[in-house]
Amino acid sequence: MQVARLRRLRQSANLRDWISQTQLRHKDIILPYFVVEGRNVKKEIQSMPGVYHFSIDNLLKDISEAKGIKSVLLFGIPKTKDEIGTQAYRDNGVAQEATRAIKKKFKKLIVITDVCLCGYTSHGHCGIVKGNRIDNDETLNLLAKIALSHARSGADFVAPSAMMDGQVRAIREALDKNGFQDIGILAYSAKYASNFYGPFREALDSAPQSGDRKSYQMDYRNADEALREIKQDIIEGADIVMVKPALAYLDIIYRAKQKFNVPIAAYNVSGEYSMIKKLAGGDKIREKELALETLTSIRRAGADLIISYFGKEVLKCLE
Ligand code: PBG
Repeated sequence: MQVARLRRLRQSANLRDWISQTQLRHKDIILPYFVVEGRNVKKEIQSMPGVYHFSIDNLLKDISEAKGIKSVLLFGIPKTKDEIGTQAYRDNGVAQEATRAIKKKFKKLIVITDVCLCGYTSHGHCGIVKGNRIDNDETLNLLAKIALSHARSGADFVAPSAMMDGQVRAIREALDKNGFQDIGILAYSAKYASNFYGPFREALDSAPQSGDRKSYQMDYRNADEALREIKQDIIEGADIVMVKPALAYLDIIYRAKQKFNVPIAAYNVSGEYSMIKKLAGGDKIREKELALETLTSIRRAGADLIISYFGKEVLKCLE
């Protein structure tokens, strides 16, 4: 029997590059940003070393340093929070002002805004709290209002992440009714109730004050349900769908890519970032290699777009 000499194609870096199947490109990467009010703020998030709260002036500076950047995802962090997240849909709210400033300075940069309530509500839930439940349908009106205010400020895509049923339809209808037919929706469609969101909740100060998010985010034991969520969002008008988190959910990304013909995004979340940071232990080269392997594997699973806190670092390594 003949030996299959698979090592033949691995002999040199040149050969390995030549036959490599999966490429990360600048356009695949979406950089997430946390924006706060005020000026001259650049404050590192303790559980996410290398990730910052930026005021708008410093946000613009950081974006201009990100080599080959094509798109950003914005999270606004308001000064005050209340029961219904009033600060989320103010036309001069922090996410809205940041969007305006970015679109003014970087005309071609694609700006995506996160549409949710958890960063803006005092209770930290992604919807309106009624007694001990989250009211789905009342939340929809608010999400639509938030999305509209983002559209008015110049966002290219809005990204609903509250996991309320019907949120994509409610937002699509509101956008269309107000002349924003061309604003896209990147839906957080299959978003799991994950333990990997811890550092993000510190960044946004958005951990639920009581209970958890298991009545709206998905149960990690389920896979078919993710496909149902995605299908429903496409029917309701999503242009791009997302699987979140990414690493523990590569099977979902793979299945979504096989089944649907819309672009698939994946969110390499805060806990995945912090985990790798810890593993690298401050060794910059190891960290870069770990980040490249991670993002490439998410891409290999089928993601067309990847949101990652390693984005800026990885952009530097791409040709
Ligand atoms: C909720 C939201 C979450 C993330 C982004 N938007 C998760 C949550 O708190 O339930 C997590 C992102 C990350 O961990 O990096 N609207």
